[in-house]
Amino acid sequence: MTPAAFEVFAILLKTRSGLVIGPDKLYLLETRLAPLLREQKIADLEALALKLKGIGHAALADAVVEAMTTNETFFFRDDKPFAHFRSQVLPQLAAQRPPGAGLRFWSAAASTGQEAYSLAMIAAESKALLGDRRVEIIGTDIAREPLARARAGLYTQFEIQRGVPMPLLVKYFKKEQDGWRIADSLRATANFREWNLLADLRPLGQFDIIFCRNVLIYFDQPTKSRVLEAIAERLAPDGVLYLGGAETILGLTDRLVSVPGGVNVYMRAKAATSTSASGAPALGAIASAMKAINRSVAAPTDSVPVSSLRSGAVGGS
Ligand SMILES: C[S@@+](CC[C@H](N)C(=O)[O-])C[C@H]1O[C@@H](n2cnc3c(N)ncnc32)[C@H](O)[C@@H]1O
Repeated sequence: MTPAAFEVFAILLKTRSGLVIGPDKLYLLETRLAPLLREQKIADLEALALKLKGIGHAALADAVVEAMTTNETFFFRDDKPFAHFRSQVLPQLAAQRPPGAGLRFWSAAASTGQEAYSLAMIAAESKALLGDRRVEIIGTDIAREPLARARAGLYTQFEIQRGVPMPLLVKYFKKEQDGWRIADSLRATANFREWNLLADLRPLGQFDIIFCRNVLIYFDQPTKSRVLEAIAERLAPDGVLYLGGAETILGLTDRLVSVPGGVNVYMRAKAATSTSASGAPALGAIASAMKAINRSVAAPTDSVPVSSLRSGAVGGS
């Protein structure tokens, strides 16, 4: 492929989804876009790049973005964040919220829904703690096909074996011919919507818990920074954010600070200086120290133009 054709894909992916690809990722373009080329009867990537440069190919551009997403996920991925959420954060939220108050959780790169349903299972298992507090779970993603699977809540034997403990399988899944269907009661608590993390996140409202895991790794520093700041805005004052194992806020934002005792767990910096989401003392001092560290790391400069975002991904579905 010519460098000019590669540039077409690199710019399209970065501006529409935040995905950054270098020339070393040429093989990724070739393998992931091959089915689209076949389906659209387009000869090769050069020809596809040429089409994308023309006007009136928004749907094709969306299809390229979707084909390039990595949708790898599984139930209770990495265990620790879910254990922390269940044993540390949920009891505190329950204590801080009056009985009857609703709780909102957001799986911000939900893929096929396993993360959202893992949260739903934990909430269902914590009924005694949560009482009559209503739990609402929103799962969002830029990719339509994984979201359709999430809504269906139907998983293969392999997907189940990868993370669902037997007692939870028995309790919350029903065997069907094509796999295991998540219980209607859990499906009713989870609402999946198409949403681009680069778009305006304000219409989603505020959340007590945000899981935004294993998506920032695909973005460059300025985009990570911008998305983290927008996500911090979506956190309730005492809300908690979980990032993936290879993700951090360091050098990206001073609106968030680490929750002591958690790994890749964050809260709003302002909350840390006033009330405590973790219950730990002296959070104000930790927040100040974290802010100082963040400021000392080079601040990102450029940003992705909002006007170039995928149009269909800014609203709910
Ligand atoms: C690797 S999966 C992570 C799934 C889950 N959070 C986990 O940790 O198991 C990354 C997801 O991010 C989604 N994604 C990528 N760019 C996005 C964007 N700009 N806005 C929303 N979702 C995005 C992809 O479609 C993909 O489903």
